[in-house]
Amino acid sequence: MHEPVLPVATVSRVTRALLAVLTVSSLVAGCSSSFNATRDAQSTAAQTGWRSSIDAIGKPIGETDLSAWNIDVAPDGRGLPDGSGDVASGGRIFAAKCAACHGAKGEGVIGDQLVGGAGTLASANPKRTVGSYWPYATTLFDYIRRAMPYNAPQSLSADEVYALSAWILNRNGIVPDDARLDAQSLAAIRMPNRDGFVPDPRPGKL
Ligand code: HEC
Repeated sequence: MHEPVLPVATVSRVTRALLAVLTVSSLVAGCSSSFNATRDAQSTAAQTGWRSSIDAIGKPIGETDLSAWNIDVAPDGRGLPDGSGDVASGGRIFAAKCAACHGAKGEGVIGDQLVGGAGTLASANPKRTVGSYWPYATTLFDYIRRAMPYNAPQSLSADEVYALSAWILNRNGIVPDDARLDAQSLAAIRMPNRDGFVPDPRPGKL
């Protein structure tokens, strides 16, 4: 004779129901034994992090914590940090930290093509790159500092980001070989496609 066996669907229903009960009881009774068992199993560091994030709810964020998030750069350059970087050092950093994904010349591999495409926007095969498409050079700084390298975002210094911006703009023919960019000179660059965008006041009328 076979042992009585629950159909799989029933088992998973039972499991789900049990889990739901456990979850609810943990949430409701913060000091229940299952909750404490879970907490005891966590490392001290994790507990401290958990406790301080709960304690932080509803409290104003401090300047130091805020400054790590407050990194937006406006089209006119507001928000750009001190520092500078030149084309040559940008080339070295690009080879070490960017070329694996964007290609040695910025031609694109698994990351976007960053160089070229000038004059293609109105064609049947438009290439929208930083050089051909982006209206503001300051956005390049913001983007790289915020998001690149893809595998280690926000790991670059301001000088490195200025240098990388200088190299990418140089390869697109926008700044000369001896360019060194800082907050003023980056904001002063006029990108080739600056006038290729129209204001979009949504929500509202076009
Ligand atoms: C691990 C791969 C990888 C590395 C390394 C990497 N990138 Fe990227 N990059 C990407 C991917 C993927 C995207 C597209 C991201 C998206 O669209 O969300 C991207 C997008 C970009 C863009 C925006 C391009 C556009 O036209 O939208 C820029 C600029 C850029 N990367 C610069 C850099 C620079 C500078 C470095 C080196 C510091 C770097 N990337 C390193 C993968 C990478």
